[in-house]
Amino acid sequence: MKVIIVKDYGELSQRASFMIADALKRKRPFVLGLATGGTPEGCYRELVRMHGAGCLDFSHVITFNLDEYVGIPPYHPNSYRYYMEEKLFRHINIDRKNIHFLNSMARDLEAECQAYEEAIKAVGGIDLQVLGIGRNGHIAFNEPGSPIDSRTRVVTLSDETRIANSRFFSSLDEVPKKALTMGIGTILEARRILLLASGPTKAEAIKAAVEGPITPNVPASFLRIHKDSTFIVDREAGCLLGSRDGNENF
Ligand code: F6R
Repeated sequence: MKVIIVKDYGELSQRASFMIADALKRKRPFVLGLATGGTPEGCYRELVRMHGAGCLDFSHVITFNLDEYVGIPPYHPNSYRYYMEEKLFRHINIDRKNIHFLNSMARDLEAECQAYEEAIKAVGGIDLQVLGIGRNGHIAFNEPGSPIDSRTRVVTLSDETRIANSRFFSSLDEVPKKALTMGIGTILEARRILLLASGPTKAEAIKAAVEGPITPNVPASFLRIHKDSTFIVDREAGCLLGSRDGNENF
């Protein structure tokens, strides 16, 4: 695994967007796995800026988002679908039929999860998966305890995650208790993984994921067994990591 420690959130967003843009230019079609939340917002802003400047084409890009809250319709401002429209999709030239989202309003959620797995396989798998990390070490909505071979499924959100995400809702009660999420096994099948973390509230999770035991208690620690995973963390999120001797790779 490679860990890149950058000065601040601005640099993190820039580095991440450069990596994604570079990857998108090298392969057609390109399958991009996307995360929501506060962390990738700056990166998406940079990608939109590059597209606006005429330097980045999305016409060959196929996207799969990691997760969605159960019971929140796609047009609702708290849905992850709405987030993606606002932060990225409506500003770029992506072909709408190439956007994939878990439909958390589906009557049969198990069938929806199975169909999502099949849709990923049908396009040849994910080329690059962008991830954030929860304060408890979760990736997507794979909470502590999630097995390494877990697949796309319905999950119950931890209190910690609901409290952290309540900042996007008017009250904690409004935060759904369930979500659909790609599994850890699904994520590990991506050819490349890019995890972003910013700020002091992520420092313990980053330390545990990078230097602690590889364990379901810290789902992000499983990324260490992937052959091409990169963490970009800012100084605050990386402040508990042991000395790297100026070496970004380890
Ligand atoms: C969202 C997702 C989550 C977030 C994580 C961090 O699609 O996959 O795992 O990445 O909860 O969220 P932020 O970036 O808001 O701290």
